[in-house]
Parts: sequence; C-alpha cells; structure tokens
Amino acid sequence: MADLHTTFTPALADLDDRHLRRRRRVVAAGEGATLVVDGQPLLAFAGNDYLGLAHHPALRGAAAEAAALGAGATASALIAGQSPAHAALEADLAAFVGADAALLFHSGYAANTGVIPALVGPTDAVFSDALNHASLIDGVRLSGASRHVVPHQDLRALDAALAAASGARRRLVVCDAVYSMDGDVAPLPDLLTLCERHDAWLMVDDAHGFGVLGDRGAGTVEHFGVAGHPRLVHMATLGKAAGVAGAFVVGPRSLVEWLANRARTYVFATALPPMVVQSLRAALRLIDGEPQRRRHLQALIARFRAGAGGLPWPLLPSATAIQPLVVGGNAEVLALDAALRARGLWVPAIRPPTVPVGSARLRVSLSAAHTEADVDRLCAALRALAVSGILDG
Ligand SMILES: Cc1ncc(COP(=O)(O)O)c(C=O)c1O
Repeated sequence: MADLHTTFTPALADLDDRHLRRRRRVVAAGEGATLVVDGQPLLAFAGNDYLGLAHHPALRGAAAEAAALGAGATASALIAGQSPAHAALEADLAAFVGADAALLFHSGYAANTGVIPALVGPTDAVFSDALNHASLIDGVRLSGASRHVVPHQDLRALDAALAAASGARRRLVVCDAVYSMDGDVAPLPDLLTLCERHDAWLMVDDAHGFGVLGDRGAGTVEHFGVAGHPRLVHMATLGKAAGVAGAFVVGPRSLVEWLANRARTYVFATALPPMVVQSLRAALRLIDGEPQRRRHLQALIARFRAGAGGLPWPLLPSATAIQPLVVGGNAEVLALDAALRARGLWVPAIRPPTVPVGSARLRVSLSAAHTEADVDRLCAALRALAVSGILDG
C-alpha cells in the first residue's frame, strides 16, 4: 500500500479532472448580506441564515454572557449533567413546536445518524425519499434496517412499498420536510395518512423549515398543523434559520427519554457548549417575536422568482428560501459561479454527490438579511450572464 501522500495526490487530481473538487473559502462577516470571501467582499446567497440571525447582536450578546460562566459542557449530559440553560432550551423548544419534550443534539448530522438507529434495526424497514439529505441516508445505513428508496415525493410508490413490507417488525418513513437542494416541501399530512394506514412512523427532518415556515416559525409541522401527531418523530436543526448550531428532536416524553438512552450520538458525545445554548435561546425569542423577518423573506422569494423567470436555467418550483437554478454539467455550473463572483456575487455551485449527476445547480439561498435591491442585483447579473451566452460553445 502506498503512503498517504502518494495515494491522495492523484485522487485529488482525479476530482479536479471531473470538476468535483470542493474548496473551502475563508469567510468573514461584512455589511448586511455581504461577506468577505477570501478577502473579496461578495453579496452572498450561500448560507442558510434564512432569518438573518447569525450575526444578530442579541445572539452574540447571549453567547458572550454565557461564556463568562464557562466555555464547555465537559461531557455528555448523561455523565456530567446539563446546565439550567440546556434544560430550559429543551423545554422552550418543545413548547414552541407543540410537543411533550425535546432532546438537543450537537448537530443535525448527529441527530439523524443517532435517532434512526435508535428507532429501527435489522428486522425493520425504512422508506427513504430518493432526495433525502446525506445524514438521513447515513442514519438509515447505520440502523441495519432494510432500505427502500422511494422516488422523490411519489406517494403511490411509497404506498406500494409500505404495503409490500407488512412483515417487517417496524416501518419508518424518513424524509426532508423541505428538500435542501430543491426547496420543495414534503406533504406531511398525506405522509402521515399513509403511515396510519400502514402502521408506520414518520420521521421528518425540518432543517430548512424551522424558523421559516408556519405563522410562528415553528416550521413545516406548524405549516401543516400536524405538531404532536402520535406517529411523528420531528427533528430540526439550529444552525440554519436559528443562526447558531445544533439540532433537536421532539415527540412524546417516552420517545425523548428513549433517545436520550439509546441514540449513540447523544449518549457518547459532549453536550453543546452553554454559550451556544444561550445564543439559541435568544434566537428562539426572535423567531417567535419577530414575524416580520418571515414576511420580508417571503416577499424576497416572490421577487426573486419574478426576476429570475425566463433564464436559460430552469428555476425549480420552490416556494421556500431555497431557489435552485438547474444548470446541468459540473464545468458549466462552476463557470457560472465564477462569473457571478467576478460580478461581486456569491451563489454556490452544487454538484454531485450532493445532487444527482447531470443536475448541477446554482443554489440561491435567500435571507431576511437581503434587501430588495440585493435580489434585484442578483437577477440582473443572472440575466446579463444569460445574454452574454457564457455557456455557449
Ligand atoms: C436536510 C438537512 N438535514 C441535516 C443537515 C445537517 O445539519 P447540521 O449542519 O446541523 O449537521 C443538513 C445540513 O447541514 C440538512 O440540509
């Protein structure tokens, strides 16, 4: 076996050849929605800071105050206990989304890879949407349950797959509530009806709906009025609209206690630092108390969709803050990403394996931190690039 350098240098060159190499940029905060990216100020449509909270003074202040009392949680909550702030945030999250209890995880990836194997095992069957996030896919793999990948948002296919798996001990349907690279929303009431019919459970990952959807921002579950459904395992992340980091799962208290005992990414991981937790409590107050952020975001979504109509790159039918323009090839989407950067705009190119081969896209991510003028500037730049025939020949 060759040494590490000799192995990975050509492996990286191969990624370069296929336009699949990802590079990490050094990003610092700028004015408004502008970020300083590798030293260059760019108007950013890149992150998932949907409500513009990531740099909010209330979140920064809460973190600074908590830091004065200690920086780290030192161990898993099962070993070293959890702070009053952790307990209060769990109680607040449960009350906010209308569930009995909540459990905090240090990331959405950890929540999904911990929760699914705690719910199902080798004698069970999982039904996973074809466009599910990688963390759900990995959670299903770790569980050892038999995996049935269902075509995206195909309820008939799901119905048939559930019917065919009636012999499994448990049946679990898992899906994104808002698809992270497409922006479309899963029809939770229809999915729950199917789960009731087939004696199954539904686990939804509301990473991109929490804070954004629903009148109060409690997410896709509020939007559809299905909070607290007895077959629903509801997970959401706290590093996107909430602007900080972490994730939570809510459900009946017995489920939450079971997960605290059996989800390995909870049991064997150090709890979130108290300053993160305090910052999240400040974020939750703003999500609840400042609905104008959601209204502004909705207005920007409508404005972008009106302004980006007629481009040569199909705009997917999304009503959420995720507005993807499908370009197709990896080299082509990288060329567009670079051309936008040259115009002072940052819209990340998304390539396989994050999206299916041949569907590389620009993922426009809108935020309440954007102004109408920001959105108009992006639309104008896209139209100018389309007219310039940047991808011709
Ligand atoms: C749908 C979805 N689930 C889970 C995650 C992972 O969450 P986290 O970044 O908190 O690990 C992400 C993205 O990061 C996501 O888009």
